[in-house]
Amino acid sequence: MRHFTFLLAMLTGVAFFYTLPCRAQKFEGLAATPPMGWNSWNKFACDGVNETVLRETADAMAANGMQQAGYQYIVIDDCWQVGRDSAGNIVIDASKFPHGIKALADYIHSKGLKFGIYTCAGTKTCAGRPASLGYEFQDARQYAAWGVDYLKEDWCNTLPKQNAESSYTLMRDALYKAGRPIVFSLCEWGSNKPWHWATNVGHLWRSCGDIGNNWSYQEASDGGVYGGSVISNLDLQRGLEQYAGPGHWNDPDMLEVGNGVLTADEERSHFTLWCMLAAPLMAGNDLRTMSPATKAILTNREAIAIDQDPLGKQGYVAGYNNDLEVFVKPLQGGDTAVCLFNRGDETKKLDFSWNEYKIGPGHAIRDIWKGQSQGNTSTPYRGELAKHSVILLRLSRR
Ligand code: GLA
Repeated sequence: MRHFTFLLAMLTGVAFFYTLPCRAQKFEGLAATPPMGWNSWNKFACDGVNETVLRETADAMAANGMQQAGYQYIVIDDCWQVGRDSAGNIVIDASKFPHGIKALADYIHSKGLKFGIYTCAGTKTCAGRPASLGYEFQDARQYAAWGVDYLKEDWCNTLPKQNAESSYTLMRDALYKAGRPIVFSLCEWGSNKPWHWATNVGHLWRSCGDIGNNWSYQEASDGGVYGGSVISNLDLQRGLEQYAGPGHWNDPDMLEVGNGVLTADEERSHFTLWCMLAAPLMAGNDLRTMSPATKAILTNREAIAIDQDPLGKQGYVAGYNNDLEVFVKPLQGGDTAVCLFNRGDETKKLDFSWNEYKIGPGHAIRDIWKGQSQGNTSTPYRGELAKHSVILLRLSRR
């Protein structure tokens, strides 16, 4: 009978045959602030990922100041898996991970870091590797046994009528049942508007398509914009601020800082804007060889404090004028982060009136990237902003 039900579920879409247990829940308190870590995909994709890269990345993170700055998850993305054995257990790609996943997780844990892995809700992952459809509970048990702390679940190769909310809820419950606290990262690219239903399903959800190692707008062949660059992913976050908060974050995708295409100003802007969005900060570059300039961006404690602010507010666009965009993010204790962003291709003169943004005169201003106090809000903020660059200010009444 169990086999029959299982077969039926596979044929018609697992989602429709899965009934929610009445006390379904996710692990609470695991992502009270946006998760910070590193993921293999942006730099190493499928072919380049292996256990040496992962171990050396953990070594680098523990030694280069990133761990101290708050980064903790080391996540293998796609391409660690090759098949299933006769009992349905997932089989690891031994050519890439000769010592297995448990040994890798143990090594990462020995550094005081946490370990994450990747799967997909469909029949195959986006890179065509075996995925979790129909194996959710078995896979979740396996992740728990390996010591996984973070799971990213993708949305490729799903069945025609597969329902995203049910599928991700199923994996959430499987993780919960497996008993090990695991941050659950939904990666269905915003296709099913997870901000409307995923607060109690995952700790973060992708809110757009994949970022690319590009600065500018990326239009798809159908004229839509689903992601693909820093700017297009940024713009797709507009209006989503109301859905983010402690334990449930919009995810505009992993960072391209340090991947060799963005200029120094663009790298700083990308990082700053992600901090303003209370975005997960998952570095996506080679931590073993990054430049001091990239490291300085990724480890700026005051920028990170804005991302990690315990109030958990996602910043929003408060104003836009002639390529100058103004982001505001309320912080705990009455402070406010303000980011002035020049999207245009020319240097801009700033004559920024605080009144316009309902910011009164009594705030002290700290320029985060200069690391200096910059007077207060009783006079307009004047200065210059180079193309594609930001000024990040923290205002406080103290
Ligand atoms: C999708 C995801 C990416 C990455 C790849 C792996 O495109 O959105 O973040 O995980 O799959 O194949």
